[in-house]
Amino acid sequence: MATIAERPAQQAGLPQAKDFLPLNGTDYVEFYVGNAKQAAYYYRAAFGMRLVAYAGPETGLRDRASYVVQQGKIRLVLTTPLRPGNAVADHIARHGDGVKDIALWVDDAVSAWRETTKRGARSVREPWVLKDDDGEVRMASIATYGDTIHTFVERKDYRGVFLPGFQAIADDPVSRPVGLLHIDHIVGNVGWNEMNNFVDFYRNVMGFDMFQSFDDKDISTEYSALMSKVMSNGNGRVKFPINEPAEGRKKSQIEEYLEFYGGPGAQHLALATDDIVHTVSKLREQGVEFLRVPDSYYDDLKQRIGKIDESMDDLKRLNLLADRDDEGYLLQIFTRPLEDRPTVFIEIIERKGARSFGKGNFKALFEAIEREQASRGNL
Ligand code: FE2
Repeated sequence: MATIAERPAQQAGLPQAKDFLPLNGTDYVEFYVGNAKQAAYYYRAAFGMRLVAYAGPETGLRDRASYVVQQGKIRLVLTTPLRPGNAVADHIARHGDGVKDIALWVDDAVSAWRETTKRGARSVREPWVLKDDDGEVRMASIATYGDTIHTFVERKDYRGVFLPGFQAIADDPVSRPVGLLHIDHIVGNVGWNEMNNFVDFYRNVMGFDMFQSFDDKDISTEYSALMSKVMSNGNGRVKFPINEPAEGRKKSQIEEYLEFYGGPGAQHLALATDDIVHTVSKLREQGVEFLRVPDSYYDDLKQRIGKIDESMDDLKRLNLLADRDDEGYLLQIFTRPLEDRPTVFIEIIERKGARSFGKGNFKALFEAIEREQASRGNL
C-alpha cells in the first residue's frame, strides 16, 4: 500500500520547528539543450509558453544563449552553448537535452546557501549578485542528484522581467497558451539503492518531509518495477518525488532513463491546470504527443472513480487518467519523451482535492510506457 507516511508538521498539528529553508516556490527550471532557439519554439508553439526574455551574444554573453519562456507561474529557461568545450556543452555531450537547474525562490539566498551547506550540501557556487537598472538579484547554487543543481534565487530587490542581463521580449506572436498554471512536482530518477540517500538529503539538508512513499508492490508491472518517495517542503509548494529502479523481469523504465541520460536526473515536470479537458485538447491540437492507455482502462473507471465533474466521453476521447484518494480526485496524462532520447517528459495534472500522485494509474501507465520501451528495443 502507498501510505501517507509523514505529513508536514503543521498538517499533523505538531509543534513546528522553524523552517530553516523557507521556499516561496519554484523560481525556474533551466534546461541545457543542443539548440535553444528551436527548443524555445517547440515549447511556445506546442505547449503555449510565451517568450518573455532572452540573453545571448547580443546582450553581452560570449559562451551561451538563453531563452526564457513562461505560462502562468511556470518559467523554463532554455540554454545552449555557443561554442564547444564549456560546461553547458559538456553537460549536453553527457546527457543530451535535460534539466540542469531546479531553481528555488527564496527571500534570503545567502541564508539558504549557508543553512544547506552547513547541513552537508555540496556548494556549486557561492552566493553572488547580479545587477542592472531594474535592481539586483542574489543567487547561490548547491548540488542535488547527478549533475542537477538547485539555485536559490532572491529577487525581492528586482523589478525586471527575469534576471539582470536578460532583455525583455514584449510580444510573442508564436505562443498559443493552453491554461497551464504552475509546477505541481518535479520527479528525479536516481540509481540503484540511491533513493534513500536522496530522501535523507532532502530531509536533512533541505528540511523537507516525506509526503508519500510507494514500493514495488504498488508500482510494479511484470517488467517495470520502481520505488518512489515523495519529499515535500514545509508549506507544500515544492514537491520532489524520487524514483529508483527495482528488480523486475526485464529492464525497468528507470534503468532505461539512467542508461540514456547517462546517470541520475530529472525525469518529469508535472504542470498543473484547472481545466485539463481544455488544456489537453489544445495541446493535442498543437502536436503534443501523449502516452496511450488502452480503451479497456475506461471500462470500469466509473465504478473506481465515482462521481466526477468531467464527462467520461471527454476522458476517453483525450485518453486522460483519473484516480481518487480520501481527499478528492485527480486527472492526469503523460507526454511521450520530449527528446529523441527516452529521458525527460511532462505530466499534465488537475487536482480536485486529491493530494496524491495517481497510484491507481501506475499499472495502466507503466504498461503504456513498456509498450513504448519495447518499440525502442529497450525492454
Ligand atoms: Fe508525476
